Amino acid sequence: KKNIRIAIDGPAAAGKSTVAKKVADVLSYIYIDTGAMYRALTYKALKEGTDLHDGKALGKLLQETTIKLVPAEIGQKVLVNGEDVTEEIRYSNVTSHVSLVSQHREVREEMVQRQRELATEGGVVMDGRDIGTHVLPDAEVKIFLKASVEERALRRYKEQQSKGIETPLEKLKEEIALRDKLDSEREVSPLIKADDALEIDTTSMGIEDVSNLILNIVKERN
Ligand code: C5P
Repeated sequence: KKNIRIAIDGPAAAGKSTVAKKVADVLSYIYIDTGAMYRALTYKALKEGTDLHDGKALGKLLQETTIKLVPAEIGQKVLVNGEDVTEEIRYSNVTSHVSLVSQHREVREEMVQRQRELATEGGVVMDGRDIGTHVLPDAEVKIFLKASVEERALRRYKEQQSKGIETPLEKLKEEIALRDKLDSEREVSPLIKADDALEIDTTSMGIEDVSNLILNIVKERN
């Protein structure tokens, strides 16, 4: 069996990371959360007070920033210049600004280069928005996960509740819808299904079903 590359794309909160982690786990592959990389830069930029509309400044900041995704007991840890920001990058302040940061060409070019380097050996499950279209256009398996905005907001709501965070469902729905819009309408590598990606609507599917479906596809192609 060869170590293939699996690209999982889709809109915010469609279950990409949960499913990607699960698939990586079963195959003993490396899981790469590219959204965490954009979040890490956003966290750093907010902390440094960088103008989030200034692509050049953000590109420069990224040059000085190391982002490490370290496998951990549950999922992965995210280190920015050695600082553990695993929790901080999920805060709403980062979430609400990340689509602004990720729209800049200077940022995307560098991120895509780093992501390709992480995937050179194969044996990876990478999730994001542009993996099948730009980062790994030759990935052996490409999946596009989608779900209704209502369902995605509800999933996020439950996830936050379990962490003791109370955000109104309506607010989560607005946040997700806005992020979808920004990610889909940006000029540089927008969120779009690759022609050769398999689309899975997860609205009424559980994590197990989705992961098993993907694992079966991997088996067929490997
Ligand atoms: O996957 P997650 O929701 O954590 O991604 C956060 C944000 O990072 C997305 O809303 C998008 O703006 C950006 N992103 C991206 N390209 C990727 C992954 C994430 O632009 N490959």
